[in-house]
Amino acid sequence: MLPIEVTSLKKHYGDLKAVDGISFTVKEGEVFGLLGPNGAGKTTCIEIMEGLRERDGGEVKVLGLDPWKNGYQLHQKIGVIPQDFTFFEKTTPREAIIYYADLFNVKVDPDMILREVLLEDSAKVHFDNLSGGQKQKTGLALSLVNSPELLFLDEPTTGLDPNARRAIWEVIRGLKAKGKTIILTTHYLDEAQQLCDRVAIMNHGKIVAMGTSEEIIQQHGSGERLEIHGSEKLADYIKANTDLQVDYNAARGEIIIPLKKRIDALAALAAAEQSGMDWGEIQTRQDSLDDVFIRLVSGAEINSDETEAKPNDRRRR
Ligand SMILES: Nc1ncnc2c1ncn2[C@@H]1O[C@H](COP(=O)(O)OP(=O)(O)OP(=O)(O)O)[C@@H](O)[C@H]1O
Ligand SMILES: [Mg+2]
Repeated sequence: MLPIEVTSLKKHYGDLKAVDGISFTVKEGEVFGLLGPNGAGKTTCIEIMEGLRERDGGEVKVLGLDPWKNGYQLHQKIGVIPQDFTFFEKTTPREAIIYYADLFNVKVDPDMILREVLLEDSAKVHFDNLSGGQKQKTGLALSLVNSPELLFLDEPTTGLDPNARRAIWEVIRGLKAKGKTIILTTHYLDEAQQLCDRVAIMNHGKIVAMGTSEEIIQQHGSGERLEIHGSEKLADYIKANTDLQVDYNAARGEIIIPLKKRIDALAALAAAEQSGMDWGEIQTRQDSLDDVFIRLVSGAEINSDETEAKPNDRRRR
């Protein structure tokens, strides 16, 4: 049995098709990422799988159960961090864990859970005095109280600084190593590349691409290319003196040469050298998941902090 089987799932709000007939499955032990711009339908889809929202069409099986009909049974077996997780202000993470254990009627060692989410040092700090990262770790801690086999993490790292994000990644990797199945949403594509075995990119309620990051880049990307920082005149010279396709990005002052074979790069550079003109930095690169994402959801609204926070992205802009 697959932990998650979603077939032709639909959810409408009036005329708005928030989730418009999507299908996917998630395997046991997999970290599966739902990506997409604001309003794509990620949270709607997650909350339907959690049994918190009713669907309008399609089939959903989570751990073999219909989440809407068998919500109570399902909630014993899943862990959840909702988007914008928050908790009672004057409660400490340790107290929150004890409170949740009571709700689930389970016996837990709060300190062990705090250790698991790297939160021992802030165990006794009131929720309203925790940093953003510590708050999210509290959410993770609470999602683990009932020892779930399946976790839903809706934007667990949004708004966190790069170190805090990495700390959460470490916790998620630890959970994966224990064999937990994890559904995760994020606006950080480097995070998806780091953590997810497979991702689905949603846009306007539909899945527009699905697979490993590499598969998606391969399918929707434009292959390897050489980029030379230089003038349009130089681009024209290379074009005239080789049989290569040469494009020019005036905004970035970049000559772009798609490489059918890697050796084509040599011909392009030889021509550049021969021209006697100046040229600057060179690099070869392939589309990143970011490039492909932006192409697939173009026209959609992108958060400014989404495009900034890419510590692994060394491209020039
Ligand atoms: N209860 C609701 N009533 C009406 N419209 C809703 C409701 N919940 C969500 N929507 C709409 O459905 C669409 C999908 O919303 P959803 O929250 O699922 O998107 P999302 O992909 O999670 O976005 P974000 O990245 O901003 O969290 C949005 O246009 C949203 O305004
Ligand atoms: Mg959301």
